[in-house]
Amino acid sequence: MIAKLIPALVALLALSSTASAQLENADPMRGESAAMVCAACHGADGNSAIPNYPNLAGQHADYIYEQLQFYKSGERANAIMLGQAAGLDEQTMADLAAYYATLESEIGETPEELLATGRAIYMGGIAEKGVPACVSCHGPGGMGIPSTGYPRLSGQKTQYTIEQLQLYRSGERSGYGQAEVMNDIASNLTDEEMQAVANYVRGLYPADVAAQ
Ligand code: HEC
Ligand code: HEC
Repeated sequence: MIAKLIPALVALLALSSTASAQLENADPMRGESAAMVCAACHGADGNSAIPNYPNLAGQHADYIYEQLQFYKSGERANAIMLGQAAGLDEQTMADLAAYYATLESEIGETPEELLATGRAIYMGGIAEKGVPACVSCHGPGGMGIPSTGYPRLSGQKTQYTIEQLQLYRSGERSGYGQAEVMNDIASNLTDEEMQAVANYVRGLYPADVAAQ
């Protein structure tokens, strides 16, 4: 685990220094105009109306910026987003990222019957399979950690989260940045476990846990 994390960490440090230079000069107002073309799929307020299309509202700017680069290079393989990112220069990516980070994410609801299982996986992992607790990187309120590449999960669309976990497990989402961290984790999750944890984060309020 540690040995696997070291190269990821080195890659992360290299990436974050270029990312921060672009993001320092990012302009959310320019980002807002550039985001007009994104609204059809990601929602006018950054909250998508389509179950397997992600919310971008409230996501960390550095994570959005990096993922746009991975789509453009084809390292994160997705035909729709390759088409969207192909024409974006780095400054526009940074502007878009800064804009979406300022928007407020809509949080959904976790169905009662999945709450206990979802929370147990998120907060404690699955010890017998060596699945680490999601909370250790994605945070107690699902807010991730800015500047580490650990994305926000709080409020994310359930169907999108399930599909991404499946793509990590099958290896279709792999081979760039820190994706390997999630390839290892998802390879030990069943469909039922993915469903429970995805429903849990959909209803996870950042302030909830702090108040508990
Ligand atoms: C035609 C629909 C469509 C349009 C338009 C679109 N996207 Fe996407 N976007 C998607 C889909 C579908 C995914 C999930 C793809 C995958 O599985 O990797 C996605 C994923 C993303 C992600 C990754 C989110 C995450 O949590 O990892 C980012 C960032 C993103 N889009 C930004 C944008 C931006 C910025 C624009 C406008 C320049 C845009 N998208 C336009 C459909 C679209
Ligand atoms: C060691 C840190 C770490 C742990 C533990 C961890 N993650 Fe992640 N997670 C990451 C990183 C790093 C990424 C971004 C990888 C990439 O760029 O594709 C990520 C990405 C994700 C994504 C994709 C988000 C998006 O917007 O596309 C999902 C979903 C996810 N993690 C769910 C989980 C779940 C569920 C668990 C617990 C079972 C978990 N993670 C545990 C580090 C971690």
